[in-house]
Amino acid sequence: MMNTSTGDERIATHHVSVYYQGNKEALSDVSLTFHAGEISALIGPSGCGKSTFLRCLDLMNREITGCRVDGLIMYHDQDINQHADLFTTRQRIGMVFQQPNPFGMSIYGNIALALRRHGVPKAKIKGIVEESLRSAALWDEVKDKLHSHARALSGGQQQRLCIARTLALDPDVILMDEPCSALDPIATHAIEDTMQSLAARGISVIVVTHNMQQALRVADTTAFFYLGEMIESGKTEQIFSNPHDARLRDYVEGRFG
Ligand SMILES: Nc1ncnc2c1ncn2[C@@H]1O[C@H](COP(=O)(O)OP(=O)(O)O)[C@@H](O)[C@H]1O
Ligand SMILES: [Mg+2]
Repeated sequence: MMNTSTGDERIATHHVSVYYQGNKEALSDVSLTFHAGEISALIGPSGCGKSTFLRCLDLMNREITGCRVDGLIMYHDQDINQHADLFTTRQRIGMVFQQPNPFGMSIYGNIALALRRHGVPKAKIKGIVEESLRSAALWDEVKDKLHSHARALSGGQQQRLCIARTLALDPDVILMDEPCSALDPIATHAIEDTMQSLAARGISVIVVTHNMQQALRVADTTAFFYLGEMIESGKTEQIFSNPHDARLRDYVEGRFG
């Protein structure tokens, strides 16, 4: 992350500002770069614009009436902000939400449906279902019950199913908005392991978290948001052990947030 443009730059924002209906500025002039194979954490108090920022990266704000996104969103060196096609963008830039949201059907069906929607030939589906469940570290737990209902799984398993569903489309960026906040510590640990194995495969993982320990455990880089601005970003260790900005220092020391 940050302005060190070494390594393989995957997705970057340049002076991105977001306005909701009524011209309320929710995000102000955010420039951040994310690299391949890195995990990046977005931290900051509630309401500071983390989700708004994440939604810029997969163009989801476009679907919010009255919402305007200014600036450039460079994905593989092309600006996708204004004109890129949503359907293809979503395939390459996956999103996992706070509440696991599997479709109301079987485990197998959840992934197969995503693949069919994207035109994957029938003959390939079975193999990709297995491969993505393996990548999401869920295969061993579900391989004997692929046709049972997804919502019978535990919360942590449902979240890994949602990750598998995203992975099936072969994204190279995965966005996660507080993916563990509905999960217990063991399930959280499993998701963190999964994040690390995705990054090891070259995927760029960007995770919003209110859990600073989580950022410390998994993130290579961390960016701190406050009142709609990106205040400071850098190597995670530096952000936590030697924060420059007083607001970040207060946040890290638990004085608010
Ligand atoms: N759909 C929306 N319409 C209007 N305002 C919104 C919408 N989503 C978020 N906001 C506002 O934008 C600001 C940032 O919110 P958000 O990005 O959700 O923060 P965070 O994820 O850091 O908690 C807040 O003031 C919030 O009320
Ligand atoms: Mg949020």
